[in-house]
Amino acid sequence: MSESRRIRLKVNCEWRESRAAPRKLLVDFLREDLGLTGTHVGCEHGICGACTILVNGEAARSCLMLAVQADGAELTTVEGLAAHGKLHPLQEAFREHHGLQCGFCTPGMLLTAYDLLCVNPAPDEEEIRAALSAVLCRCTGYLGIIEAVKTAARRLREAISK
Ligand code: FES
Ligand code: FES
Repeated sequence: MSESRRIRLKVNCEWRESRAAPRKLLVDFLREDLGLTGTHVGCEHGICGACTILVNGEAARSCLMLAVQADGAELTTVEGLAAHGKLHPLQEAFREHHGLQCGFCTPGMLLTAYDLLCVNPAPDEEEIRAALSAVLCRCTGYLGIIEAVKTAARRLREAISK
């Protein structure tokens, strides 16, 4: 078995250091080594989007990256969205609009929506649908999720303009 390597990465604003086998997937490293089980593992083939996180500020499939490839990177997982004990506006809106049922896709949905709103703070419905098509939900039919993203986008814009 190949020797593990030391990696250092910033996760949710905190530097973390650990060892990882060269072939360990980033999603497994987050869950098993860092205890960040909010990131879910679905297909492990880059299809379902459940494992989506932010890597250096951009949405990425953590099942398609090796942990060692994230050495030195800055990551955000769903655990990093809430701040000071307060849910992120996206999380609040998902709750209000019933944007989840089983919740399996939710971390990937949230990070995908977060990424969208960073690059496009005022997306129209078509743009929201296109962005969310990167994540598969087997439960909700997407309508609540789309409404949640619209609501969160509006609130975030209002907060900035205050
Ligand atoms: S688990 Fe990564 S895309 Fe499905
Ligand atoms: S809420 Fe169950 S898969 Fe989306």
